[in-house]
Amino acid sequence: MIGVFDSGFGGLVVLREFLKVLPQYDYLYLGDNARIPYGTRSDKVVVRFTAQAVDFLFRQGCKLIILACHTASSKALRTIQQIYLPLHYPERRVLGVVIPTVEEALARSPGKRIGVIATEGTVSSRSFEIELKKLDPEVEVVQQACPLLVPLIESGEQEWEGTGMILKRYLAPLKEARLDTLILGCTHYSILMDQIRVLMGDKPGLICSGQVTAVKLADYLQRHPELETRLSRGGSRRYLTTDLTPRFQHLAGLFMGQALTPEVVEL
Ligand code: DGL
Repeated sequence: MIGVFDSGFGGLVVLREFLKVLPQYDYLYLGDNARIPYGTRSDKVVVRFTAQAVDFLFRQGCKLIILACHTASSKALRTIQQIYLPLHYPERRVLGVVIPTVEEALARSPGKRIGVIATEGTVSSRSFEIELKKLDPEVEVVQQACPLLVPLIESGEQEWEGTGMILKRYLAPLKEARLDTLILGCTHYSILMDQIRVLMGDKPGLICSGQVTAVKLADYLQRHPELETRLSRGGSRRYLTTDLTPRFQHLAGLFMGQALTPEVVEL
């Protein structure tokens, strides 16, 4: 079974891409809706919450977990991979969305100018910039935190003109920056893809980590048969959440494009 974890429902956009590319596996989705947002929290808290979620998903039998949350991938993945896994689950794997996105962004950026929009937490961690510069020290990275976008999208305000104005303001410095590629470095931002495209124009190219991570995960599994053969292939999907509010079906529809049957769990 593959576990997919996010701070809330935004990670469903990532799961959705996995289901297109790798539908054969069993998936267990966990959204920590009781504690969203992660994007404004300290490193310590994001590490603690993410480790609890990972532990929970492993106890359910997942052999591989993808952190679909960019904030968790940025702030907690390294600690989980380097400290938690070797101690508790040396045979299992936890992967994130930052590295696959960075690899793809570089491949698509001949001018080496890459922009990143993300939560405050992801931007302050500089995770995208650090990983991009590891692969190519000459790359220019322009980051922009967009803290109002997650609450606006979660409140169903993505079509509101105020959201358009806020987005325009966030994107203004990136428009000046003559980018090759703009990374949408947060689960929620693909919902605003069309507006971002209009505001940014034909160039830069836009990258959503969901699609990219799905394709790279398929490649990873081919290169790691010792893990791949341990993943169950029943085609099942379960959706776990740490809190259930009346917004659930609205958000499930927004991010997943369909109604879902949630199960409430405590971590
Ligand atoms: N899932 C988070 C991310 O991709 C956005 C929501 C939050 O702040 O928790 O960074």
